Amino acid sequence: MLNSLDISLAGRDLLRISDLVPAEAEAILDLAVELREQPKQPLLPGATLGLYFSKHSTRTRVSFSAGIAQLGGVAIALSPEELQISRGESLPDTARALSRYLDVIAVRTHAHAELEEWGEWATIPVINALTADEHPCQALADALTIRDRVGSLEGVRVAWVGDGSNVLVSLAALGELLGYEVVAASPAGFEAPGVETVRDPREAAAGADVVVTDTWISMGQEDERDERLRALEPYRLDDALLALASPDAFVLHCLPAHPGEEATADVLYGPRSAIWDEAENRLHVQKALLALLLGAR
Ligand code: CP
Ligand code: NVA
Repeated sequence: MLNSLDISLAGRDLLRISDLVPAEAEAILDLAVELREQPKQPLLPGATLGLYFSKHSTRTRVSFSAGIAQLGGVAIALSPEELQISRGESLPDTARALSRYLDVIAVRTHAHAELEEWGEWATIPVINALTADEHPCQALADALTIRDRVGSLEGVRVAWVGDGSNVLVSLAALGELLGYEVVAASPAGFEAPGVETVRDPREAAAGADVVVTDTWISMGQEDERDERLRALEPYRLDDALLALASPDAFVLHCLPAHPGEEATADVLYGPRSAIWDEAENRLHVQKALLALLLGAR
């Protein structure tokens, strides 16, 4: 267990996984486990968390809201359509004003550059709640789910099949910090930047300890639906592909899932699926993240 002298997340932003060093990522996972065992520790009495979400969300929105409440604080939903920003107030002015009311803000938006603007202008910690480029909170929950099941992360083989999405980018970047290896299989033109990618999904899945996939049509890609379904069809995670993985291998999916597209219903809801534990771990890692960014630990 690390002590507070080893890490200094207080006051920082989490925009990309590369904002973290290994000890910080480990500290988030360790505190998440502690908070999972003792969920009602009021580490952040009176803290205010803004949720500025320009895209749909079920898990991220609710796990952040429930999490800050369990820590003794409150979440404030900030739908862009209800703010003056949708009538032309600038992002810098919005961020500066909100920083006078809130202690921390989670932002879900399309362009990563917009999130970086929030980081530049807000004077409070800014958390990436998903952009087109990265989904770091998801990766932290996925790493915790793997660590829970395998017992450690060092040397674990993670196979990704399908679209080279924002989730894959963060999962692979976190693997570089925590010692697990990610091999992705994606079709040409759908590779994630900076991630080791093969073409054949069977090559990625062979002997893997964990097999992960994501929707073939991420938010903002709806116009590319037909082209994406065509290209990604051979990358569906089904029982035959999963049979190539290690006998103890399990399946992760960030959700929402589209049974019959990126994964079959048999796989998603079968005995080797860890998707509900994975979804639950969003709550625990984000509570840990909030406590560390706000200096409560
Ligand atoms: N996995 C995830 O981020 O889910 P939501 O889009 O429902 O928040
Ligand atoms: N890649 C998906 C993840 C959803 C949680 C998207 O960006 O829509």
